[in-house]
Amino acid sequence: MHTITSIKNSKNREKLVMITAYDALFASLFDEKVDIILVGDSLNNSFNGQKDTLNISMDMMIYHTKAVMQGAKNTFVVTDMPFGSCIDEKIALKNAIKVYQKSGAHAVKIEGGKDKAHIVKALTQNSIAVVGHIGLMPQFVRLEGGYKLKGKDDKDTKRLIEDAKAIEEAGAFCIVIEGVTPKAAKEITEAVSIPTIGIGAGIEVDGQVLVWSDMLGFFDEFKPKFVKRYLEGATLVKEAIDKYSKEVKEGKFPTSEFSY
Ligand code: KIV
Repeated sequence: MHTITSIKNSKNREKLVMITAYDALFASLFDEKVDIILVGDSLNNSFNGQKDTLNISMDMMIYHTKAVMQGAKNTFVVTDMPFGSCIDEKIALKNAIKVYQKSGAHAVKIEGGKDKAHIVKALTQNSIAVVGHIGLMPQFVRLEGGYKLKGKDDKDTKRLIEDAKAIEEAGAFCIVIEGVTPKAAKEITEAVSIPTIGIGAGIEVDGQVLVWSDMLGFFDEFKPKFVKRYLEGATLVKEAIDKYSKEVKEGKFPTSEFSY
């Protein structure tokens, strides 16, 4: 199982594989098969059917993180600090200590660049391991009026590099880069000495993360360009349910094989 040091040391050596998980069952399926499991606040979309991540609470994150920790016994687990949980150092510290103590997660992830560096510093100075998250930040969706690709020009790339450096300097051991042009993601990755984990950020980063329900095809309403489906989960589930339903209706299940 990874430690913060081994994650940091993977830079320029080995690509990091991260996947989200929201419950014990799927976490147990991913356990030891990936480097890091992220209890992302994306669970509010893909698990709770909400339209964005903004109304998930700290208590909901703790509930799901505790479940994931039950399933992922041998994998490094990072949990998201939800919207509104890090508005100042004191509140962020209180919330991060709560999730650390109640769930046993190994690290927390905070969305934000330079403007959140003081929060990252407050947490790391108090022994809480932090993963940064820059580029497209879903918690800013309402402020920005949608999910917008970042790093499209030199000026924005420079800003993202400054964000990454500020977070690194504040003590983060890793940075998620979301929704950024491959060129900008490469430049950010070269500018910092901690690993970058991309999502919709091209290949020239230190690792990749995908939302499990997207990459296994369980969420089939919409597929962003950066998502590769490694399984057609929704199709398989719907076919299986149709078959079960038909067999029950037709009196074909359970046969003696499935009866006491
Ligand atoms: O919430 C989440 O799942 C995330 C990933 C998309 C990186 O932050």
